[in-house]
Amino acid sequence: MNKIPEEHYVKPFQQQTYLINGKLRTWNGDFTNIYSTISSTEQYAPTLLGSVPNLGKEQALEALQSACDAYNKGKGLWPTMKVKDRIAALLKFVKLMEKKRDEVVKLMMWEIGKSLADSRKEFDRTTEYIYDTIEAYKKLDNESSKFQQRDGVYALIRRGPLGVVLCLGPYNYPLNETFALIIPALVMGNTVIFKPAKHGVLLFSPILEAFQEAFPQGVINILYGRGRTVAPPIMQTGRIDVLALIGNSKTAIALQDEHPNKNRLRLVFGLEAKNPGVVLPDANLDFAVSECIKGALSFNGQRCTALKILYVHQDIKDEFIKRFAEKVDELKFGNPWEDNVMLTPLPEVEKPAYIQELIDDALAKGATIQNKKGGQRTENFIFPAVLYPVTKEMRVYSEEQFGPLVPIKSFTHSSEIINEIADSKYGQQISLFGEDPNTLAPLIDTLVNLVCRVNLNSLCQRGPDVFPFTGRKDSAVGTLSVHDALRSFSIRTFVSFQNNDYNRQIVDNLLNTNTSNFINTDYIL
Ligand code: G3H
Repeated sequence: MNKIPEEHYVKPFQQQTYLINGKLRTWNGDFTNIYSTISSTEQYAPTLLGSVPNLGKEQALEALQSACDAYNKGKGLWPTMKVKDRIAALLKFVKLMEKKRDEVVKLMMWEIGKSLADSRKEFDRTTEYIYDTIEAYKKLDNESSKFQQRDGVYALIRRGPLGVVLCLGPYNYPLNETFALIIPALVMGNTVIFKPAKHGVLLFSPILEAFQEAFPQGVINILYGRGRTVAPPIMQTGRIDVLALIGNSKTAIALQDEHPNKNRLRLVFGLEAKNPGVVLPDANLDFAVSECIKGALSFNGQRCTALKILYVHQDIKDEFIKRFAEKVDELKFGNPWEDNVMLTPLPEVEKPAYIQELIDDALAKGATIQNKKGGQRTENFIFPAVLYPVTKEMRVYSEEQFGPLVPIKSFTHSSEIINEIADSKYGQQISLFGEDPNTLAPLIDTLVNLVCRVNLNSLCQRGPDVFPFTGRKDSAVGTLSVHDALRSFSIRTFVSFQNNDYNRQIVDNLLNTNTSNFINTDYIL
């Protein structure tokens, strides 16, 4: 083990409070220890980072009551507030959050093993997302601040909140993906209950007070504990209006099923995927290899957008696999703060054994490991194996490995790719490597109907966050982007009136007295 530089040391701490009804309540019950799989001793041992409250059903229902009270049947301060005042709260929050960058980044490295550069990138991308959301909401609101007239009826149409949102984020992008749900939900006037994932939980401690200071009481409530303990009781009450979750479809379906009135529940889901990379015979191989490496193995493949299977044309497969396997073996493994690390410790203790199972299954069914270091194990890692030839019978063909493992399958006709993607459970994105317009065009024209983003000679990715992020089949429900998320967490609602002297006078009075936060034509600069 390399010595840990002093600036990256962490001192274990107990997160003693949780946020309900605008108060940071001290917890006197059980706590759950949080460990990092990164060792801080010569002899390997997980590092204790701290502990968080192990809350139960009672606290979960209190958080729900707090969010419902803050929404108060649509009468609450927050849902009826002027848009510019909600924006002011968000600005206050992001300013306070920015001061905590270093603390959050350090915990992110230890908790989920994300490299220093990527952890910083995630933090900055998240604050940028908040600023972009504010600008997008101003634009949306300004465009809505005018009356329309049709067939003798006037209307002032805006987007209004949906109610109470239960928000569950993932461990791989604990900050960015979670905030990409919480922030649009809040700014549109909803109230929120949020529970962090199992990994990437202590990193919220430095910003807990910012939430408390910036938002009125009950608008945001933050719970700790096991998802399966705290989330079902909340859903069973039927008082949740939006379930916002980034995770897997099993959890999403199970939680959705707990709700007694499913028609009243809006879903915003980012789920699993098995994005393919397709290398056509005329692809620029250097380019394809480099993008496939980043696409498959950035953050150890723990991205929903990661390339999780590569289809390489029969004519070039030998050369591609040779170059790809060599490059994989050159990737540097190390602790997140080390220079130029691409591969880092896996935060899930059980992940190396799972990846090993997939490898063993593939080997037993005829694949071989193409790179020298493939499958080498340490206590907290398994070096990415490049597996070829992969067949449909192997588990790695259909399971989302979400880790360092690259299955490769060869093909001869584009129709094979189309059929396999059409038959897959997933439909998020694809990477397509090639040049010839006569081959690319028909493929692109079909693939856009099977997935939601075709990346030409580029890795799959969510960003830039202003672009739509969604998927078909088991990969998503709803669309997220700075612009689309505002719509996902709101509904169109309007005030209308017959165009006559009587009504015009009343609406004039409403506008002139500036008494309504909805009926106004203010322009937010
Ligand atoms: O885990 C899924 C993330 O949204 C992927 O984001 O493509 O920017 O790495 P990214």
